[in-house]
Amino acid sequence: MEKIMVETSPPLKGKVRTSGAKNSALPILAASLLGTEDIILEDVPNLKDIEVMCEVLTSLGAKVEILDKGIIKINSSNINNYVTRYELMSKMRASFLVMGPLLTRLGKTKTSLPGGCAIGTRPIDLHLKGFKALGANINSDHGNISAYAERLIGDKIYLDFPSVGATENIIMAAVLAEGETIIDNAAMEPEIVDLASFLNKLGADIKGAGTSTIRVKGVKKLGGGVHSIIPDRIEAGTFMVASAITGGDIIVENVITSHIKPVIAKLKEIGCQVIENGDSVRVIGTKNLKPTDIKTLPYPGFPTDMQAQFMTLMSLCKGTSVVIETVFENRFMHVDELKRMGADIKIDGRSAIIQGVDNLTSAPVKASDLRAGAALVLAGLVADGVTEIDNIYHIDRGYDGIEEKLSKLGAIIYRK
Ligand code: UD1
Repeated sequence: MEKIMVETSPPLKGKVRTSGAKNSALPILAASLLGTEDIILEDVPNLKDIEVMCEVLTSLGAKVEILDKGIIKINSSNINNYVTRYELMSKMRASFLVMGPLLTRLGKTKTSLPGGCAIGTRPIDLHLKGFKALGANINSDHGNISAYAERLIGDKIYLDFPSVGATENIIMAAVLAEGETIIDNAAMEPEIVDLASFLNKLGADIKGAGTSTIRVKGVKKLGGGVHSIIPDRIEAGTFMVASAITGGDIIVENVITSHIKPVIAKLKEIGCQVIENGDSVRVIGTKNLKPTDIKTLPYPGFPTDMQAQFMTLMSLCKGTSVVIETVFENRFMHVDELKRMGADIKIDGRSAIIQGVDNLTSAPVKASDLRAGAALVLAGLVADGVTEIDNIYHIDRGYDGIEEKLSKLGAIIYRK
């Protein structure tokens, strides 16, 4: 099995470009099932998760063509299959996002239930609550879940938690429903705004994306269009932490800085200089890293997807830092691995108390999930010796060319 090796690296220097956002590209690819003409997506990141979603679309009868690096053409005019196979569903939980589009386009959909996941049980009750409110019948048996509706009819839906996936699935189901759907306590993530702007280009009528109330007026049919995926705010944040932790000076390009306000604020609290300049951001590290506290929250709060990377950084801040994880129930899988590298972290329920140490030491470690993998890469950059990271398929699910990009900044990182 291939591993990522990270050696003690000099302070990172130079420029790096952020790829398109994984979490935007996945729902937008799923939403492409709603179009009846050619769709061209640009700035699609080159990731394992994207490959899986393209496989899902093909298995449902869509034509998917890679035109060039980052450019994908999709034609869903003849989709004919409403069943998502178990092996595709089990590869990636986000495959569940095809349920909304299939239900509204074909009147029925069937998929295996997404299984457990390293970062918590991740139920789908809110997705199903939305489909039911629109008039779907839901059945579950033998590990499968099916939804059926002769026609979906718009309604008011209140989400008990602003789930990103549920908001996306309900928007996608509502675009071809009869009448108006109003989603209250909707997720406000930039990826929801990107999905809505893509669907509106295809002819949908969605208003309020980016706020907690989204209104979708059903239309008869969606066409095609061209859309560029927004930059990946989590990838950008990961590079910013890489600069902070190595005492570097890097410029991250292709960033929408308003999407990463909490990351910028926390890096400044820790003592870094962060200089915003149009669509790029410069991060200058410091030798004197100060402790801080973080509470993960739905957008615009601090993103749970940056929690693990910040925990690596906090492990080297002088003093005590606290992390409270409120979005997922079990997202501290990286802690044991960081402790093996010398970090001093204690878990108490949903809180982690991090006592800064002078340095980290290399060790063979395992990525338990995508962002945990990124946290270990960051730790490897400053640990003395060679850090050997196993289970790197998690990292490849969400980082497009991580070792090429970090190497260009001067990091010593390679596969073996
Ligand atoms: C998306 C992101 C993921 C990110 C997460 C939170 C994608 C592909 N993934 O995941 O990277 O970490 O948002 O920002 O975009 N929940 C329920 N019932 C539901 C759905 C969710 O209780 O029906 C709970 C989950 O268990 C979790 C919380 O809501 O505790 C947040 O989940 P959600 O916002 O749905 O995350 P995802 O869409 O799965």
